[in-house]
Amino acid sequence: MDPLPYSQSCENNKTAIAAVLAHSFSEAKHVLEIGSGTGQHAIYFAEQLPQAVWQTSDQACYHQGINARLIQYPSDNLRSPIELDVLQPWPITQLEPIDAIFSANTLHIMSKTMVEAFFEGIGRHLMPNGQFCVYGPFNYHGDYTSDSNRQFDKWLLQQNPQSAIRDIEWIMQLAAAQGLELVADHTMPANNRLLHFKRI
Ligand SMILES: C[S@@+](CC[C@H](N)C(=O)[O-])C[C@H]1O[C@@H](n2cnc3c(N)ncnc32)[C@H](O)[C@@H]1O
Repeated sequence: MDPLPYSQSCENNKTAIAAVLAHSFSEAKHVLEIGSGTGQHAIYFAEQLPQAVWQTSDQACYHQGINARLIQYPSDNLRSPIELDVLQPWPITQLEPIDAIFSANTLHIMSKTMVEAFFEGIGRHLMPNGQFCVYGPFNYHGDYTSDSNRQFDKWLLQQNPQSAIRDIEWIMQLAAAQGLELVADHTMPANNRLLHFKRI
């Protein structure tokens, strides 16, 4: 059997993220995760939020790994991934109304066009009063919040010229255009942030 895909950073950050989600998603019933990656976050957060169904999603090439992890760690409130590329129509008509959306470490990987499509999709699919939480590194006032983020951004650029740590001011503009109001900007370990928005 192939080893499951594994991200050490997911193991490092999942407890701190779950502590925030325990409040921000306390009333969520149907959570859509965008860019589930290895599925490590999904299995942990579904366990921590037993009142919610956690719907994983990602581009097709990630599905085998996510499904393998879900088979090894099954849970009644955890759903197999749907194929969701933010640039394509989001295939979520078969789901219950989405009252929460979560995404980690995706906005700095996606191109600017993808980030714009990401927010437009949230605008189309998140219910009024729904919660949206996004985790990752962000720049403030056009600058890095740490030397390690500066190094990370250099590395990102080498991997893909379209990838970059995003400016919080731009993210706030995209969010506001979709009726998303910032509830909290949480400081997280390793120079990351967790932005919690509510759809008005
Ligand atoms: C660095 S990984 C993060 C995975 C996981 N959320 C984590 O925290 O470990 C970036 C994720 O962004 C997703 N992604 C990149 N471009 C995407 C797109 N156009 N539509 C949907 N997801 C995309 C990738 O498929 C991948 O799952």
